[in-house]
Amino acid sequence: MNEIEAKIKTLREELEQHNYAYYVLSAPTISDYEFDKRLKELQILEDAYPEYADACSPTQRVGSDLSKEFEQVTHAYPMLSLGNTYSEGEVSEFYNRTMRILNEPFELVAELKYDGASISLIYEHGRLTRAITRGDGARGDDVTSNVKTIRSIPLKLMGDHYPDMFEIRGEILLPWAEFDRLNKEREEQEEPLFANPRNAAAGTLKQQNPAIVASRKLDAYLYYILGENLPADTHYDNLQIARTWGFKIPDVIRICYTLDDVFNYLAYWDVERKNLPVATDGVVLKVNSLLQQRNLGFTAKSPRWAIAYKFRAEKAVTRLNSVTFQVGRTGTITPVANLDPVILSGTTVKRASLHNADIIEGLDLHVDDYVYVEKGGEIIPKIVGVDTDARTMLVGEKVSFITNCPECGAPLVRPAGEAAHYCPNESGCPPQIKGRIEHFVSRRAMDIHIGPETVEDLYNAGYIKNIADLYTLKLPDLLRLERWAEKSAKNLMESLEESKAVPFERVLFALGIRYVGETVAKRLAHAFLNIEQLQQASPESLMQVNEIGERIAQSVLNYFADEANTSIVKRLAAHGLQMTVDETILTDRSDSLKGLSIVVSGTFTKHSRDEYKAMIEQHGGKCSGSVSGKTDYILAGDNMGPAKLEKATKLGVKIINEDEFLNILEE
Ligand code: IVH
Repeated sequence: MNEIEAKIKTLREELEQHNYAYYVLSAPTISDYEFDKRLKELQILEDAYPEYADACSPTQRVGSDLSKEFEQVTHAYPMLSLGNTYSEGEVSEFYNRTMRILNEPFELVAELKYDGASISLIYEHGRLTRAITRGDGARGDDVTSNVKTIRSIPLKLMGDHYPDMFEIRGEILLPWAEFDRLNKEREEQEEPLFANPRNAAAGTLKQQNPAIVASRKLDAYLYYILGENLPADTHYDNLQIARTWGFKIPDVIRICYTLDDVFNYLAYWDVERKNLPVATDGVVLKVNSLLQQRNLGFTAKSPRWAIAYKFRAEKAVTRLNSVTFQVGRTGTITPVANLDPVILSGTTVKRASLHNADIIEGLDLHVDDYVYVEKGGEIIPKIVGVDTDARTMLVGEKVSFITNCPECGAPLVRPAGEAAHYCPNESGCPPQIKGRIEHFVSRRAMDIHIGPETVEDLYNAGYIKNIADLYTLKLPDLLRLERWAEKSAKNLMESLEESKAVPFERVLFALGIRYVGETVAKRLAHAFLNIEQLQQASPESLMQVNEIGERIAQSVLNYFADEANTSIVKRLAAHGLQMTVDETILTDRSDSLKGLSIVVSGTFTKHSRDEYKAMIEQHGGKCSGSVSGKTDYILAGDNMGPAKLEKATKLGVKIINEDEFLNILEE
């Protein structure tokens, strides 16, 4: 047994002993603080050395950072959908039908239709016991540990007038501001963007790692309570009472006494919803009296006592001039529609996404067609239809997906089960080659200071055909190029030299293996420790790594099965790039930061944000998420949040950069 393994074993035994003393004997043998410190120490070691994982480790008791498959649970009351309407006429019909069936006066409650992921929360004796997704309506996933990270959802209720057991349903939402922040971060890391806040919220809820969920700042609005002994006999009053238990109940709900009240509400929110912090896509109308609700009952799919009025997405008509096909860094082909400029929701739209071949085929698109462009919750506008009546004799040819790469001519492939086409000519297709080099030199990868134009120049001049060629560049070659002065050439040589110190996990990320983003690269590096072992890894051993499934494992295997790649890796190693994990960062510990509370914010170049956090904890410091009077330092990278900066300046908290931090550690 090696030193690390022995350390892990001792820590586990020790913690288990303390656990028993505390929970079974009620006779604590250690302070909570000491216990947490050791648990954290164990967690850090387990994260770094996943090969020693153990499902019975004390760390598995904490719902913090661990993967978990979701259990499927049957809903006590099925989660139904609502009938949709798109016009005031249909709303009137709903109103009149309800009147006819009830044959007595009734009130409607109008509320906003929130566009997120629906959730059902179960409370027993005032405590949140379960949170279940909608799933197929009858059964959903138990996502309790993720939902518990949402601060606006009470884990324990206030007061004591709540029923012993009830369910409350609502929508989990990712506020617009968080959505934008998340997508910006993903763009920087070349991860696929979320199309809208709904997808982002649903994706986040299904995250295997509750710590990631906690970092995304989800919110929850609740709008429907179910159970045996509800406090009031109207929907509206029940929600108002639930608010006093600590739930976030939207305050924009209104009782409507007439159809006119309803129309006023619709008209007001159609405009005003654009100023809300979260996405909405309509209004929900519900009969207020629970008795009347029961009398109206349900159809197979939805309640007869409620209906959803959907706001119209903003649409415009314009002409399709052409469709171009772009080749991405990993060979993905993206069809883009080029349009006559048109104004949509206040911005000029010239291009729209066409997604994939099936969508183009489904639209029966022709050049010169007049097309409907829509901007729903999506960031990129999309083409939703063709005005076939406007089609003239002069309409252009039918748009069909290309069969060969527009850049290198290679026949495209479409993997079974995937919607996208790819150019398979990885080592011969110029945008893929240049894209891979651009990725390799990017800040979060090797941080070599050249931009896309320089990559283009060097590629066109024949100096670089792959990432390893960068390290054979010679100063005189560079000076022979147009626009290259002595200074910039020297800078490039210097930053190439510096890149040789970039840690292995970033080198691995820089290689640009499909699906191996920053996090996966780090996991692989920590699991296999060096490139040789990774190169020889079996599919099984790859899939044993936390959150690495078949798709990623296969991609890693494919990469190393290609001799062109292994020869590049060999050349990079020969040039002195780091091909082994720097273990000192994981095993060095001290008390040098003891008692200090440090906030880490922004993006860094020498280590990742997570690495800095781990370092702070390894040296006895405390990482905190928000700036307060107790904060000793802010370790600030690029793009630190403006709110944090303002608060720090106001409180007079010392701001240090990464070099200063590393100096403090060395002292
Ligand atoms: S009430 C049986 N109220 O819309 C009725 N639903 O198509 C239960 N939604 O699955 C739903 N805002 O995810 C209700 N104020 C609101 C809502 C709302 C959004 C969602 C919910 C539901 C879907 C129905």
